[in-house]
Amino acid sequence: MEPFRFHLFVCTQQKPEGVASCPASGSFAVLDALDREIQARGLDNDAQLTTCGCMGLCDEGPVMVVYPAGVWYRRVQPSDVSEIVAAHLGDGKPVNRLVWNDAAAMKAMSVEHREKFRQAMAAREKAGVLPDRLDQMIRGYMPSRCLLTALELDIFTAVGDGASAEQIGKRIHANARAAGMLINALVALGLLSKSGEDYKNTPESARFFVQDSKDNQRNGLLHIANIWHRWSTLTDAVRSGTRVPRGRDDTPEWTHNFIAGMQRIAKDRAPQVVKALGTTGVCRILDLGGGSGAYSIAFAKASPDVQCEILDIPEVVPLTAEYVSQAGVSAQVSLRPGDMLQDDFGSGYDIIMLNAICHMFSEEQNRDIFRRARQALAPNGRLVVQDFILNPDKTGPLHAALFSLNMLVNTDAGASYSEVEYTNWMKAAGFTEVCRISLPGPSSMIVGRVK
Ligand SMILES: C[S@@+](CC[C@H](N)C(=O)[O-])C[C@H]1O[C@@H](n2cnc3c(N)ncnc32)[C@H](O)[C@@H]1O
Ligand code: FES
Repeated sequence: MEPFRFHLFVCTQQKPEGVASCPASGSFAVLDALDREIQARGLDNDAQLTTCGCMGLCDEGPVMVVYPAGVWYRRVQPSDVSEIVAAHLGDGKPVNRLVWNDAAAMKAMSVEHREKFRQAMAAREKAGVLPDRLDQMIRGYMPSRCLLTALELDIFTAVGDGASAEQIGKRIHANARAAGMLINALVALGLLSKSGEDYKNTPESARFFVQDSKDNQRNGLLHIANIWHRWSTLTDAVRSGTRVPRGRDDTPEWTHNFIAGMQRIAKDRAPQVVKALGTTGVCRILDLGGGSGAYSIAFAKASPDVQCEILDIPEVVPLTAEYVSQAGVSAQVSLRPGDMLQDDFGSGYDIIMLNAICHMFSEEQNRDIFRRARQALAPNGRLVVQDFILNPDKTGPLHAALFSLNMLVNTDAGASYSEVEYTNWMKAAGFTEVCRISLPGPSSMIVGRVK
């Protein structure tokens, strides 16, 4: 029994360069077109679209199979998609001109393909060709750098509702030849489209990267462009053991983009953190390094009984004030400019939050913060650390291991830490109950409670 009327499998198996494959003949474009068409016809609840690995008919790609009848389509193009969805999913009639039902020929092709593939791989292995996985990892920064430069130059805003390469080049005050090369690469990356001489934003680029869009995330993403320059110092940082100065990270623009970057991530995560911690019995919260204030804002919105205090550095507090005021919770959220490494925290808090903070500091600094937080908590109060938490042997998960290097290039002594480390530091600081709370997404929480 199927939980939906149709199940569509589209092959997206990547193959080494020079070997026939469905992606090489356009299966990702077919997949996108199917997704759009199924939604446009309101068939989302009837049809499940799934990607799959090689089905052995690579020379006839893009290949897709529609179940429960098991109808095999070959050489499908985006231009065929609306007909397939209307006829097959709508009227239950497969599009015969694209159906392949010669089982003997299909079997022969798949066996032949498997043998050819094995031989090709054996030949590559013998010749010492670098595996694709390694090649892709080494060049992985290229697409990222194209997008970061496009964001820095605000190309997507310059494209607007559609423009020629010359117009775009003029609008971003760039060299016409070079701008044209970048714009073409953005088309290849699926971030712009081109029709005749005109370039257009894709729906995603228009939504997330264009200035007047309500979901524009450019400012926050420019923070990633800023730290890209830091990552280029990684080799020197590994040699020296700490960050190596490059460029300035104390300009108002850098700080603005940094806090926008924090807000981009925190605004979705904050309601989950509030839900996981609950507001019962919570009256006073201290939000250390609160940044955009997203977590205090979420607590204030969740309960009118909660009062939050955000302590952040003086350069950031005016930005925090704007976010708090925009959220309409200024009466419940107060701001304190200061230095959490030096300042007295006060007393009587039910929760002290360290959201994305501990990774900026060394073990000694974190132990000291935990000790002082312990003193500042009311009976039964909780210290909450939310961060990317490493496995005990520190070799994963990948995002936490990479984030540790992000701290190496960006801070004096920061790193990602493991659950064991956080737990030990909390216990040493006098917390009795310590537990880990998993959140959806890459970060999780360690919560310590005092008696
Ligand atoms: C990675 S951000 C996290 C922001 C926020 N907690 C969040 O999760 O969105 C780190 C924050 O700590 C602040 N910060 C860094 N060093 C600080 C210090 N010594 N005292 C107070 N705040 C500090 C930064 O200004 C920034 O707002
Ligand atoms: S790559 Fe799609 S069938 Fe082989």
